[in-house]
Amino acid sequence: MSNPVHIDIDGTIAIVRIDNPPVNALSQSVRAGIVSAIQETDANTNVRAVILICSGSTFMAGADIKEFGKPAVPPLLPDVVAALEAAQKPWVAAIHGNALGGGLEVALGCHYRIAQVGTMLGLPEVNLGLIPGAGGTVRLPRLILMADAFAMITSGKPVTAATAKLTGLIDAVSNTDLLRDAVAFTKTIIDLPKPLALSVKPIKEPLTDDEISAKSKAITAKSRGQLSPKVAAETLAAIQALDAQSGLTLERENFLKLKADEQSDALRYIFFAERSVSKIPSIKSAITKPISTIGIIGGGTMGAGIAASCLLANLNVTLIERDTTSLEKGVDRIIAILHASMKRGLIDPARYDALTGNLSSSTDYINIADADFIIEAVFEDMNVKKDVFAKLDAVVKPEAILASNTSYLDMNALAAATAHPERVIGLHFFSPAHIMKLVEVIHTDHVSDDVLATSMALAKKLRKLAVPAGVCDGFIGNRIMSAYRRAAEYMLEDGALPHQIDAAMKSYGFAMGLFEMQDLAGLDIGYAMRRRKDATRDPNERYVDIADKIYRMDRLGRKNGAGFYIYEDGKTPIHDPDIDALVIAESKRKNIARTSMTEVEIMDGLLAAMADEGAALLSENIAASPEAIDVVMVNGYGFPRWRGGPMYQFKRSA
Ligand code: 3HC
Ligand code: NAI
Repeated sequence: MSNPVHIDIDGTIAIVRIDNPPVNALSQSVRAGIVSAIQETDANTNVRAVILICSGSTFMAGADIKEFGKPAVPPLLPDVVAALEAAQKPWVAAIHGNALGGGLEVALGCHYRIAQVGTMLGLPEVNLGLIPGAGGTVRLPRLILMADAFAMITSGKPVTAATAKLTGLIDAVSNTDLLRDAVAFTKTIIDLPKPLALSVKPIKEPLTDDEISAKSKAITAKSRGQLSPKVAAETLAAIQALDAQSGLTLERENFLKLKADEQSDALRYIFFAERSVSKIPSIKSAITKPISTIGIIGGGTMGAGIAASCLLANLNVTLIERDTTSLEKGVDRIIAILHASMKRGLIDPARYDALTGNLSSSTDYINIADADFIIEAVFEDMNVKKDVFAKLDAVVKPEAILASNTSYLDMNALAAATAHPERVIGLHFFSPAHIMKLVEVIHTDHVSDDVLATSMALAKKLRKLAVPAGVCDGFIGNRIMSAYRRAAEYMLEDGALPHQIDAAMKSYGFAMGLFEMQDLAGLDIGYAMRRRKDATRDPNERYVDIADKIYRMDRLGRKNGAGFYIYEDGKTPIHDPDIDALVIAESKRKNIARTSMTEVEIMDGLLAAMADEGAALLSENIAASPEAIDVVMVNGYGFPRWRGGPMYQFKRSA
């Protein structure tokens, strides 16, 4: 492999350039190259300062995660950062794209930092089940306030170059040519004494014990069983009371412990799974068509969210509704989403005006005749959808792609009812569609490769995580959820109570229990869906009547204050002994002898139900890989990320 570290000497300034695509990860050859560059520039008497810069789309995105499962080969990253700090000449990190994890730690080893506008800087190790392992917890709070360092390290959230400048994380922002600005900056510091290394400076405004304790409590509650944010908080708290060297030793110990833990393994697995699932080898040579104009049919909950997503991706959107009243409501929903994005600082007022200017609306389908891509989000009713697709067939251009956001309906049947089934596809967005990253891309039997490739590309443009799925009732996610729900309902009759099942799954790491979730969605929704399926349900299938009975008691869930639970404040579930009695009476009515279940038995049983359904999805070619199932469950259904997903867990326990 060619050397990824190159040195150019420009008068008295050496430019050390890293070129290790795709993200300049700190692989062994990069680490070794930086150490040689330090030795070479130290030894060169002409060199008075060094700029560290990267080729490609980004500065270093961190340690090379692909090396984590292998034995570490020196030089290790902490030693590289220490060597940078100890270099005889001042080093200036010139940063663009992202400086993340080990990448930011390398920049902290440098004596100055300049970042291009738009750069993101952060220590996201907690998201991989880790804490920074090359001095980040020790050096960052010596450069910026401990409160800011604490927030960055425990949340893993990066900050923009503008924020980094405000907090003191970087010394300058480059608005144009990074290298030119870095050279100009370096000339301003070249005659100054080399600044003190961060590791000999004191912590900047340590937090009080009370502050640490309050922050740690909030972190523990939010992380729902994930270790790394908690360990990050504990490490930072301990580091405040230690000298830098002892702090570095403690950080490394905790980093190595977490790296060996199964949570980090699971989080690294899902990181790579998310990047692999949207690659479809069979359509590698397909043509991706350019998309600039989107038609959205139906401006309800989903249509409005999808429209906002498209607008935020700078696409032109035309909304079609069935009448003027619904149209006005739909437009209002879209505008409200964009407005909220502006209020939250995600888009500035000028962009808000531009984006709203890209939205048009009509009740006449003729106004989407020129759209490149149409996404239908009308009622979940096959006849209504077929009618919409027939209208689309009549007006849209031949190369336009027609997508449906159906949750359950048979996409093959819908495609077959159109004049050109090869251009019909499913795009199953999740609610709220402008926020949730996941989209299941449903490839029908007839869809062309170009349409599939273009749909995947559109999802990427919308910054979504696209997972291909085949046609079946519920695709990947809703089908697994049906199996999960079915198994939980059997457990109700067999011996568990709703609050026990919910408690077990929350202990497992889910944000919400299954019955709490049904109360949130509304028990009328599930009831209506079950009635739709009455005609096709196998009469010999075990059917649990509990949810129907609760619905018939006019307990609709949160919306009217009672469902599986009681809601006095509209949101906090309160255990209701009457529901326990109803559940127990149902077991009795069916002559089922109830057996109590432990939390672990409940967790294991429900996980097995999900994994079994996952295995069925694989055997039916609905899901392309176990990773696809895990990515859907983690990103769309609240499966705890640090557990990797049901298929990952199943494989571990097998
Ligand atoms: N190591 C190895 N490979 C990496 C990597 C890393 N740190 N980061 C990204 N990659 C790979 C991806 O797997 C992908 O490979 P592929 O093309 O074969 O699928 C490729 O780089 C491009 O990645 P993305 O598709 O994610 O590209 P984006 O442009 O969407 O995003 C990014 C770029 C924001 C840098 C994103 O990749 C990212 O967040 N990376 C991880 C950053 C991170 O977590 N760093 C900390 C690592 S741990 C650490 O540094 C420990 C230290 O403290 C000791
Ligand atoms: P909704 O009831 O909020 O919105 C449907 C909209 O479609 C309404 O505004 C209605 O006026 C409009 N509409 C109905 N018939 C029309 C027609 N012939 N022409 C134009 N507009 C028409 O429904 P929601 O929740 O947005 O769901 C839409 C679709 O998205 C359904 O297929 C649903 O299964 C699916 N979906 C829903 C999710 C959710 O969480 N709500 C999640 C994922 C998919």
